[in-house]
Amino acid sequence: MTARDRPNETAAVPATSQADLQRIGKELVSGLFIAIKTARIHGCQNSLFFSAVDNIHHRLHEAMELFGSLELRLTADCLWLNESRLRIGFESYNCFRFLIQVLQQHQVGALRFAETVHADQIRVLVEQLSVEVDLEQAFERLAAAFEHIGDGIEAELFQESGVEDVSSSSTVDRAEKARGTYLRSLFITSRIMESIRHRKDIDLRRVKRIVQDIVDTVLDDEPTLLAMTTIRDHDHRVFQHSVNVCILSVLLGQAAGLGKKQLGDLGVAALLHDVGLTAIPKELLGRPESLTPEERDLVDAHPRLGVVEILRQRSLSLANLMSVIVSYEHHQSADSPGFDGDLPNLYSRIVRIADHYDRNTTTGVYGEPLRPPSDVLADLLTGGGHCFDPVLSRLFVQALLVR
Ligand SMILES: [Fe+2]
Ligand SMILES: [Fe+2]
Repeated sequence: MTARDRPNETAAVPATSQADLQRIGKELVSGLFIAIKTARIHGCQNSLFFSAVDNIHHRLHEAMELFGSLELRLTADCLWLNESRLRIGFESYNCFRFLIQVLQQHQVGALRFAETVHADQIRVLVEQLSVEVDLEQAFERLAAAFEHIGDGIEAELFQESGVEDVSSSSTVDRAEKARGTYLRSLFITSRIMESIRHRKDIDLRRVKRIVQDIVDTVLDDEPTLLAMTTIRDHDHRVFQHSVNVCILSVLLGQAAGLGKKQLGDLGVAALLHDVGLTAIPKELLGRPESLTPEERDLVDAHPRLGVVEILRQRSLSLANLMSVIVSYEHHQSADSPGFDGDLPNLYSRIVRIADHYDRNTTTGVYGEPLRPPSDVLADLLTGGGHCFDPVLSRLFVQALLVR
């Protein structure tokens, strides 16, 4: 990607048009995702495929009435529709990620749709994009295919436009990569929670991979990931809390001198520390003042419920065992007996600090009122009525203040 290829987001676009572009962009991305997936699974002669193509055509025609023409452009890890950079929610993350990968694999930098676009042209486009190609042949094959596609759709290929290969890590903007890591973490955490809720095994390799990305980003000293932990998203606060605690724990683990392998194990344990919440009815979270004593006991039991859920996993490893310990101990005072009767484990003491900070400043996952970060950091240094590991607390405050 080069700066000149990035659309000018600061160009004056009325707020209503921006909102329309965001909506149309999401519909277009999800429409292409469904059509390409349908083509790959059912083939291109199937009624499901035709209906997926018709849906895209219908949406495009509606959009043309507002904008006349549309350009969907790829820059690094971002998609733009006309002048508007499409914002990715975590529910739509999968569709965006998929389409970005498909466009990268096919060396497509931009797709332009004119008012004259018709369904057959969209069908040809989707058929081409649904082929899983050898990268070496992608340019030549697509250049030939798009020559015959007609006037309604135009594709700009990377080699034509001078756009560098965006899959090369040297060209990917670090901040955008960090944002992608955060959104992917939210998406994977939502899948973990769903798997556990339905008594299915979680994909631990996937968990380890995303935690490794978080560790790499923290070690890379990239501030964007930490900045993402301050975004408040009421609807997804349990997932967000898990991801934030993972990031903050890795940050503290790094300050405490842990190595990369230990940071990976710590990050997995931190990401899973609240899986016990999946056993609790959602309506009990977020209103602590109105819980009955029985409901309060159930919420308070989530560390032990988490132990049960993790032990249920068939692929137990040493990293899982650390997750068991951290789940059990993450609300224990630093001076009270932990899992084995001794004081809580180092990883549990780290996660407890990260957990306390995040839920009191950003996510309020159990319904806590949110407070200024400076007040919560003061809790950590003074104990604030709880007992935190004093050395780790100081390291945490220093780590946040220097960022
Ligand atoms: Fe918890
Ligand atoms: Fe927590």
